[in-house]
Amino acid sequence: MSDQSEYPSESMHGQDNGLRPLSNADDLCLGNPSNSELSRIMSRAGISLANGFPLDDDDDDDEDADDYVAVDQDEADQPYWFRRAPAHVRTKLDELHPFVQLLSTSNVEDCVKVEAAFPEQERCSHDKFIYRLTRCPELSLGLFTLPILAEGEPKPRPQLVGHIIATRTSEPLVTDYSMKLPANWQNERWSYEDGQAVGHEEGGSTIAIHSLAVDPVHQGKQVGSTLMKSYIHRIREAQIAERIAIIAHDHLVPFYESFGFVSHGPSACQFGGGGWVDMVLELGSEPLDE
Ligand SMILES: CC(C)(COP(=O)(O)OP(=O)(O)OC[C@H]1O[C@@H](n2cnc3c(N)ncnc32)[C@H](O)[C@@H]1OP(=O)(O)O)[C@@H](O)C(=O)NCCC(=O)NCCS
Repeated sequence: MSDQSEYPSESMHGQDNGLRPLSNADDLCLGNPSNSELSRIMSRAGISLANGFPLDDDDDDDEDADDYVAVDQDEADQPYWFRRAPAHVRTKLDELHPFVQLLSTSNVEDCVKVEAAFPEQERCSHDKFIYRLTRCPELSLGLFTLPILAEGEPKPRPQLVGHIIATRTSEPLVTDYSMKLPANWQNERWSYEDGQAVGHEEGGSTIAIHSLAVDPVHQGKQVGSTLMKSYIHRIREAQIAERIAIIAHDHLVPFYESFGFVSHGPSACQFGGGGWVDMVLELGSEPLDE
Protein backbone atom coordinates (compact mmCIF):
# COMPACT_ATOMS: atom_id res chain seq x y z
CA MET A 1 0.00 0.00 0.00
CA SER A 2 1.17 3.49 -0.70
CA ASP A 3 1.80 5.90 2.07
CA GLN A 4 0.00 9.26 2.02
CA SER A 5 3.42 10.98 1.83
CA GLU A 6 3.88 9.55 -1.65
CA TYR A 7 1.12 11.90 -2.84
CA PRO A 8 2.33 15.40 -2.00
CA SER A 9 -0.26 18.12 -2.14
CA GLU A 10 -0.22 20.19 -5.32
CA SER A 11 -1.61 23.27 -3.61
CA MET A 12 0.39 26.46 -3.36
CA HIS A 13 2.61 27.33 -0.40
CA GLY A 14 2.47 23.88 1.04
CA GLN A 15 -1.23 24.13 1.91
CA ASP A 16 -3.29 21.02 1.48
CA ASN A 17 -5.89 21.58 -1.25
CA GLY A 18 -7.92 18.63 -0.06
CA LEU A 19 -7.41 16.75 -3.31
CA ARG A 20 -6.45 13.10 -3.10
CA PRO A 21 -5.81 10.45 -5.69
CA LEU A 22 -8.79 8.40 -6.78
CA SER A 23 -9.86 5.85 -4.21
CA ASN A 24 -8.60 3.06 -6.44
CA ALA A 25 -5.34 4.82 -7.19
CA ASP A 26 -3.35 2.54 -4.91
CA ASP A 27 -4.29 -0.42 -7.02
CA LEU A 28 -3.30 1.41 -10.18
CA CYS A 29 0.08 2.57 -8.77
CA LEU A 30 -0.54 6.17 -9.82
CA GLY A 31 1.96 7.79 -7.48
CA ASN A 32 4.01 10.76 -8.67
CA PRO A 33 6.52 9.20 -11.06
CA SER A 34 10.18 10.18 -10.93
CA ASN A 35 11.78 11.73 -13.99
CA SER A 36 13.22 8.41 -15.04
CA GLU A 37 9.82 6.76 -14.78
CA LEU A 38 8.21 9.55 -16.80
CA SER A 39 10.90 9.28 -19.39
CA ARG A 40 10.34 5.54 -19.67
CA ILE A 41 6.58 5.90 -19.97
CA MET A 42 6.81 8.72 -22.48
CA SER A 43 9.35 6.91 -24.56
CA ARG A 44 7.11 3.82 -24.67
CA ALA A 45 4.18 6.06 -25.61
CA GLY A 46 6.23 7.75 -28.31
CA ILE A 47 6.13 11.14 -26.57
CA SER A 48 9.18 13.40 -26.45
CA LEU A 49 9.70 16.71 -24.73
CA ALA A 50 9.53 19.79 -26.94
CA ASN A 51 12.16 21.71 -24.97
CA GLY A 52 14.70 19.00 -25.51
CA PHE A 53 15.63 18.67 -21.85
CA PRO A 54 16.21 15.04 -21.01
CA LEU A 55 13.97 13.73 -18.24
CA ASP A 56 16.34 10.97 -17.35
CA ASP A 57 17.98 11.89 -14.08
CA ASP A 58 20.01 8.77 -13.64
CA ASP A 59 21.59 5.93 -15.55
CA ASP A 60 19.96 3.07 -13.71
CA ASP A 61 17.33 2.30 -16.37
CA ASP A 62 18.01 -1.40 -16.39
CA GLU A 63 18.45 -1.67 -12.68
CA ASP A 64 14.73 -1.56 -11.83
CA ALA A 65 13.22 -2.44 -15.19
CA ASP A 66 11.41 -5.38 -13.67
CA ASP A 67 9.54 -3.08 -11.29
CA TYR A 68 7.35 -1.84 -14.13
CA VAL A 69 4.64 -3.53 -16.03
CA ALA A 70 4.17 -2.77 -19.68
CA VAL A 71 1.75 0.07 -20.31
CA ASP A 72 -0.73 -0.62 -23.02
CA GLN A 73 -0.33 1.97 -25.78
CA ASP A 74 -4.06 2.68 -25.81
CA GLU A 75 -3.95 3.30 -22.08
CA ALA A 76 -1.08 5.76 -22.46
CA ASP A 77 -2.93 7.69 -25.15
CA GLN A 78 -5.99 8.10 -22.94
CA PRO A 79 -5.00 9.10 -19.43
CA TYR A 80 -7.54 7.96 -16.87
CA TRP A 81 -8.65 11.47 -15.97
CA PHE A 82 -9.92 12.06 -19.52
CA ARG A 83 -12.18 9.06 -19.47
CA ARG A 84 -15.82 9.95 -19.04
CA ALA A 85 -18.81 7.87 -18.20
CA PRO A 86 -20.81 7.21 -21.36
CA ALA A 87 -23.41 9.92 -21.90
CA HIS A 88 -26.71 8.96 -20.23
CA VAL A 89 -29.28 8.03 -22.80
CA ARG A 90 -32.62 9.53 -21.87
CA THR A 91 -35.20 6.86 -21.27
CA LYS A 92 -38.97 7.01 -21.47
CA LEU A 93 -38.94 7.02 -17.68
CA ASP A 94 -36.68 10.12 -17.65
CA GLU A 95 -39.18 11.89 -19.86
CA LEU A 96 -41.78 11.55 -17.11
CA HIS A 97 -39.53 13.41 -14.62
CA PRO A 98 -40.78 10.90 -12.09
CA PHE A 99 -40.82 11.10 -8.33
CA VAL A 100 -42.20 8.71 -5.75
CA GLN A 101 -44.24 9.61 -2.71
CA LEU A 102 -46.49 8.02 -0.13
CA LEU A 103 -50.18 8.18 -1.01
CA SER A 104 -53.05 9.49 1.08
CA THR A 105 -56.84 9.57 0.82
CA SER A 106 -56.42 12.68 -1.36
CA ASN A 107 -55.13 10.30 -4.07
CA VAL A 108 -58.08 7.90 -4.07
CA GLU A 109 -59.57 9.15 -7.35
CA ASP A 110 -56.11 8.99 -9.01
CA CYS A 111 -55.67 5.43 -7.78
CA VAL A 112 -59.06 4.40 -9.13
CA LYS A 113 -57.98 5.64 -12.57
CA VAL A 114 -54.63 3.82 -12.48
CA GLU A 115 -56.34 0.66 -11.20
CA ALA A 116 -58.13 0.46 -14.56
CA ALA A 117 -54.91 -1.30 -15.64
CA PHE A 118 -56.46 -4.48 -14.13
CA PRO A 119 -59.31 -6.49 -15.58
CA GLU A 120 -62.49 -5.35 -13.82
CA GLN A 121 -62.84 -8.34 -11.48
CA GLU A 122 -59.29 -7.85 -10.18
CA ARG A 123 -59.53 -4.13 -9.42
CA CYS A 124 -59.34 -2.67 -5.96
CA SER A 125 -62.64 -0.84 -5.35
CA HIS A 126 -63.01 2.85 -4.52
CA ASP A 127 -64.02 1.94 -0.95
CA LYS A 128 -61.01 -0.34 -0.50
CA PHE A 129 -58.69 2.48 -1.57
CA ILE A 130 -60.30 4.74 1.04
CA TYR A 131 -59.95 2.01 3.67
CA ARG A 132 -56.32 1.11 2.87
CA LEU A 133 -55.13 4.69 2.47
CA THR A 134 -56.83 5.62 5.74
CA ARG A 135 -55.58 2.68 7.77
CA CYS A 136 -52.05 2.18 6.43
CA PRO A 137 -50.96 4.93 4.01
CA GLU A 138 -47.36 4.28 5.09
CA LEU A 139 -47.51 0.98 3.16
CA SER A 140 -48.41 2.70 -0.10
CA LEU A 141 -46.25 4.34 -2.74
CA GLY A 142 -47.11 6.34 -5.83
CA LEU A 143 -44.96 7.29 -8.81
CA PHE A 144 -45.94 10.68 -10.17
CA THR A 145 -45.04 12.72 -13.22
CA LEU A 146 -44.74 16.48 -13.32
CA PRO A 147 -44.09 18.22 -16.65
CA ILE A 148 -41.33 20.82 -16.87
CA LEU A 149 -42.99 24.22 -16.77
CA ALA A 150 -42.31 27.33 -18.75
CA GLU A 151 -41.58 30.44 -16.70
CA GLY A 152 -44.70 31.83 -15.05
CA GLU A 153 -46.85 28.80 -15.90
CA PRO A 154 -49.04 27.67 -12.99
CA LYS A 155 -47.88 24.46 -11.36
CA PRO A 156 -50.19 21.60 -12.36
CA ARG A 157 -51.19 18.82 -9.98
CA PRO A 158 -48.71 15.93 -10.23
CA GLN A 159 -50.22 13.04 -12.18
CA LEU A 160 -50.21 9.57 -10.63
CA VAL A 161 -48.66 7.10 -13.07
CA GLY A 162 -48.37 3.97 -10.93
CA HIS A 163 -49.10 2.82 -7.40
CA ILE A 164 -48.49 0.12 -4.82
CA ILE A 165 -51.16 -0.44 -2.19
CA ALA A 166 -50.72 -2.87 0.69
CA THR A 167 -51.89 -3.92 4.14
CA ARG A 168 -50.33 -6.01 6.89
CA THR A 169 -51.24 -9.59 7.63
CA SER A 170 -50.12 -12.00 10.34
CA GLU A 171 -50.12 -14.78 7.71
CA PRO A 172 -46.96 -15.51 5.69
CA LEU A 173 -48.84 -15.17 2.38
CA VAL A 174 -51.55 -12.97 0.90
CA THR A 175 -54.95 -14.36 1.90
CA ASP A 176 -58.48 -13.68 0.73
CA TYR A 177 -59.26 -12.39 4.23
CA SER A 178 -56.41 -9.90 4.02
CA MET A 179 -57.82 -8.61 0.72
CA LYS A 180 -61.31 -8.03 2.10
CA LEU A 181 -62.88 -4.78 3.17
CA PRO A 182 -63.95 -5.04 6.84
CA ALA A 183 -67.65 -4.27 7.07
CA ASN A 184 -67.54 -1.81 9.92
CA TRP A 185 -63.97 -0.55 9.75
CA GLN A 186 -64.80 3.09 10.57
CA ASN A 187 -66.07 2.05 14.00
CA GLU A 188 -64.11 -1.09 14.82
CA ARG A 189 -60.36 -1.38 14.93
CA TRP A 190 -60.35 -5.16 14.45
CA SER A 191 -62.64 -7.20 12.24
CA TYR A 192 -63.09 -10.96 12.14
CA GLU A 193 -65.00 -13.33 9.89
CA ASP A 194 -65.12 -17.06 10.61
CA GLY A 195 -62.54 -16.46 13.33
CA GLN A 196 -60.14 -14.94 10.79
CA ALA A 197 -58.82 -11.39 10.89
CA VAL A 198 -60.13 -9.37 7.96
CA GLY A 199 -58.29 -6.55 6.22
CA HIS A 200 -55.32 -4.75 7.72
CA GLU A 201 -53.75 -6.38 10.81
CA GLU A 202 -51.77 -3.66 12.53
CA GLY A 203 -49.18 -6.02 14.08
CA GLY A 204 -48.79 -8.36 11.10
CA SER A 205 -45.19 -8.95 10.03
CA THR A 206 -46.04 -9.63 6.38
CA ILE A 207 -46.74 -6.74 4.06
CA ALA A 208 -49.36 -7.98 1.62
CA ILE A 209 -49.31 -6.02 -1.63
CA HIS A 210 -52.81 -5.93 -3.07
CA SER A 211 -52.11 -3.75 -6.04
CA LEU A 212 -49.18 -2.87 -8.24
CA ALA A 213 -50.57 -1.04 -11.23
CA VAL A 214 -49.28 1.32 -13.90
CA ASP A 215 -51.46 3.57 -16.03
CA PRO A 216 -51.70 1.64 -19.35
CA VAL A 217 -50.53 4.78 -21.22
CA HIS A 218 -47.24 4.58 -19.35
CA GLN A 219 -46.65 0.84 -19.20
CA GLY A 220 -43.38 -0.50 -20.58
CA LYS A 221 -41.42 2.58 -19.42
CA GLN A 222 -39.88 0.95 -16.34
CA VAL A 223 -42.45 2.61 -14.08
CA GLY A 224 -43.57 -0.66 -12.46
CA SER A 225 -40.05 -1.91 -11.83
CA THR A 226 -38.85 1.47 -10.53
CA LEU A 227 -41.81 1.65 -8.18
CA MET A 228 -41.26 -1.88 -6.91
CA LYS A 229 -37.51 -1.37 -6.36
CA SER A 230 -38.15 1.86 -4.50
CA TYR A 231 -40.86 0.21 -2.40
CA ILE A 232 -38.68 -2.74 -1.42
CA HIS A 233 -35.80 -0.40 -0.60
CA ARG A 234 -37.99 1.71 1.68
CA ILE A 235 -39.49 -1.23 3.52
CA ARG A 236 -36.12 -2.93 3.93
CA GLU A 237 -34.44 0.26 5.16
CA ALA A 238 -37.24 0.98 7.62
CA GLN A 239 -37.08 -2.61 8.98
CA ILE A 240 -40.81 -2.68 9.50
CA ALA A 241 -41.62 -6.17 8.19
CA GLU A 242 -40.23 -9.66 7.84
CA ARG A 243 -41.43 -10.16 4.31
CA ILE A 244 -43.37 -8.75 1.40
CA ALA A 245 -45.93 -11.01 -0.25
CA ILE A 246 -47.94 -10.64 -3.44
CA ILE A 247 -50.09 -12.84 -5.66
CA ALA A 248 -49.32 -12.81 -9.36
CA HIS A 249 -50.41 -14.50 -12.54
CA ASP A 250 -47.91 -16.88 -14.17
CA HIS A 251 -46.67 -14.44 -16.81
CA LEU A 252 -45.49 -11.99 -14.13
CA VAL A 253 -43.62 -14.55 -11.99
CA PRO A 254 -40.26 -13.71 -13.68
CA PHE A 255 -40.98 -9.99 -13.18
CA TYR A 256 -41.27 -10.50 -9.41
CA GLU A 257 -38.38 -12.97 -9.30
CA SER A 258 -36.20 -10.21 -10.75
CA PHE A 259 -36.68 -8.30 -7.46
CA GLY A 260 -35.88 -11.34 -5.31
CA PHE A 261 -39.41 -12.68 -4.77
CA VAL A 262 -39.62 -16.47 -4.61
CA SER A 263 -42.53 -18.47 -5.97
CA HIS A 264 -44.42 -20.52 -3.37
CA GLY A 265 -46.62 -22.19 -5.96
CA PRO A 266 -50.36 -21.88 -6.62
CA SER A 267 -52.11 -19.54 -4.20
CA ALA A 268 -55.20 -20.45 -2.21
CA CYS A 269 -56.54 -16.96 -2.96
CA GLN A 270 -59.69 -16.96 -5.01
CA PHE A 271 -59.85 -13.19 -5.33
CA GLY A 272 -60.86 -12.06 -8.83
CA GLY A 273 -61.40 -15.64 -9.98
CA GLY A 274 -58.19 -17.20 -8.65
CA GLY A 275 -55.36 -18.68 -10.71
CA TRP A 276 -52.66 -16.82 -8.73
CA VAL A 277 -49.14 -17.76 -7.70
CA ASP A 278 -47.86 -16.84 -4.22
CA MET A 279 -44.70 -14.75 -4.41
CA VAL A 280 -42.71 -13.87 -1.27
CA LEU A 281 -39.69 -11.67 -0.68
CA GLU A 282 -38.07 -12.46 2.68
CA LEU A 283 -36.41 -9.36 4.07
CA GLY A 284 -33.82 -11.13 6.18
CA SER A 285 -33.60 -13.66 8.93
CA GLU A 286 -32.41 -11.19 11.53
CA PRO A 287 -35.00 -10.43 14.19
CA LEU A 288 -36.58 -7.02 13.91
CA ASP A 289 -35.75 -4.40 16.54
CA GLU A 290 -38.38 -4.37 19.24
C1 LIG B 1 -47.29 -5.43 -14.51
C2 LIG B 1 -47.04 -3.94 -14.54
C3 LIG B 1 -47.18 -3.37 -13.13
C4 LIG B 1 -45.62 -3.69 -15.05
O1 LIG B 1 -45.35 -2.31 -15.05
P1 LIG B 1 -44.57 -1.62 -16.27
O2 LIG B 1 -44.22 -0.25 -15.87
O3 LIG B 1 -45.37 -1.80 -17.50
O4 LIG B 1 -43.30 -2.58 -16.34
P2 LIG B 1 -41.78 -2.21 -16.64
O5 LIG B 1 -41.70 -1.27 -17.80
O6 LIG B 1 -41.15 -1.75 -15.39
O7 LIG B 1 -41.26 -3.64 -17.07
C5 LIG B 1 -40.10 -4.21 -16.61
C6 LIG B 1 -40.05 -5.66 -17.03
O8 LIG B 1 -41.15 -6.36 -16.47
C7 LIG B 1 -41.60 -7.38 -17.36
N1 LIG B 1 -43.02 -7.16 -17.66
C8 LIG B 1 -43.68 -5.99 -17.54
N2 LIG B 1 -44.99 -6.18 -17.87
C9 LIG B 1 -45.11 -7.48 -18.20
C10 LIG B 1 -46.21 -8.28 -18.61
N3 LIG B 1 -47.45 -7.77 -18.75
N4 LIG B 1 -45.97 -9.58 -18.86
C11 LIG B 1 -44.74 -10.11 -18.73
N5 LIG B 1 -43.66 -9.39 -18.32
C12 LIG B 1 -43.86 -8.10 -18.07
C13 LIG B 1 -40.76 -7.29 -18.58
O9 LIG B 1 -39.72 -8.24 -18.41
C14 LIG B 1 -40.17 -5.90 -18.52
O10 LIG B 1 -38.90 -5.88 -19.07
P3 LIG B 1 -38.68 -5.17 -20.49
O11 LIG B 1 -38.98 -3.73 -20.27
O12 LIG B 1 -37.24 -5.44 -20.75
O13 LIG B 1 -39.61 -5.83 -21.45
C15 LIG B 1 -48.02 -3.20 -15.49
O14 LIG B 1 -47.90 -3.77 -16.77
C16 LIG B 1 -49.45 -3.26 -15.06
O15 LIG B 1 -49.94 -2.35 -14.38
N6 LIG B 1 -50.21 -4.31 -15.48
C17 LIG B 1 -51.61 -4.45 -15.14
C18 LIG B 1 -51.82 -4.70 -13.66
C19 LIG B 1 -51.05 -5.93 -13.19
O16 LIG B 1 -51.12 -6.99 -13.78
N7 LIG B 1 -50.33 -5.74 -12.06
C20 LIG B 1 -49.55 -6.79 -11.46
C21 LIG B 1 -50.37 -7.48 -10.44
S1 LIG B 1 -49.58 -8.90 -9.80
